[in-house]
Amino acid sequence: MNVLVTGSNGQLGSEIKELSKKEDINFRFTDVIELDITNYREIEKFFLNHQFEIIINCAAYTAVDKAETEKEKARQINSYALKNLARIANKTNALLIHISTDFVFDGKKNTPYTEIDKPNPLSIYGKTKLEGEKIALKEAKNLIILRTSWLYSSYGNNFVKTIIKNAREKKNLRVVYDQVGTPTYARDLAQVIISICKKNPKKIKEIFHYSNEGVTSWFDFAKNICELSDIRCEITPILTSEYPSIAKRPHYSVLNKSKIKTFLDIQIPYWKDSLKECVKKLEGEI
Ligand SMILES: NC(=O)c1ccc[n+]([C@@H]2O[C@H](COP(=O)([O-])OP(=O)(O)OC[C@H]3O[C@@H](n4cnc5c(N)ncnc54)[C@H](OP(=O)(O)O)[C@@H]3O)[C@@H](O)[C@H]2O)c1
Repeated sequence: MNVLVTGSNGQLGSEIKELSKKEDINFRFTDVIELDITNYREIEKFFLNHQFEIIINCAAYTAVDKAETEKEKARQINSYALKNLARIANKTNALLIHISTDFVFDGKKNTPYTEIDKPNPLSIYGKTKLEGEKIALKEAKNLIILRTSWLYSSYGNNFVKTIIKNAREKKNLRVVYDQVGTPTYARDLAQVIISICKKNPKKIKEIFHYSNEGVTSWFDFAKNICELSDIRCEITPILTSEYPSIAKRPHYSVLNKSKIKTFLDIQIPYWKDSLKECVKKLEGEI
């Protein structure tokens, strides 16, 4: 089986790349320099010499605050590019696996969000990702949208690496405790994506939610990161209002994962167990 991965130098793409070494699937990894998903001509040209059964779109504009001032760029990558990917997937009879986000929700619920809950994004990033979902759902014949949350990895930049760096340099960190969700180790999500590739479903058009198990706040997440990394740093819980960011974020964005668990017949790792694995990896223990 031939599988194309776009945006593969990011967190998720890098995890798929690492796991792919153990798999009997022929992966082709690309990023913006080789394959810019906003450029249909480039995509078409690339496909002249390649044939794929599955296209995994890991490419995205993920700078949530910056998106508020770079709306057009975020739209090109997170929204309009989905038309290009859907078009080429349809033309080549490929399944498109697209990654989306918990930030499509406004966080006003207090029970985990299901795939049929109504999105209402608060930020430009969330809006562009939702628009991308809608375009993909309208255009693609074969499609899986995987919404995930609070992604981190030993690759790229993320909350785990930022907390480790800052906690080593400072005696005290202030972290918000009124935003609740679930961290997701990108390696776990990569494993799920590989399982979908192996299942290779046909004639499908579905949204699935995937994160690690459990619920936490950014404050508790930061405390756990420091404890697991053996860093002494005082973490002070603060309210979002005490640390205003440019983009609005949902106060509650826990995802209900029942649908994907049934679809793939899987159990999902608890967020603290996966965090432990990632910290060990960052420390060179595995
Ligand atoms: N990070 C999170 O907390 C989070 C949470 C929920 C959902 N998600 C979603 O999960 C997916 C993967 O996220 P991630 O954290 O792995 O993202 P990431 O680390 O930011 O990686 C995205 C990759 O896409 C590349 N890219 C940007 N524009 C492109 C273009 N026009 N054509 C091809 N590649 C392009 C980026 O290259 P450059 O670096 O050179 O721009 C980067 O290598 C995304 O869809 C994201 O929206 C992320």
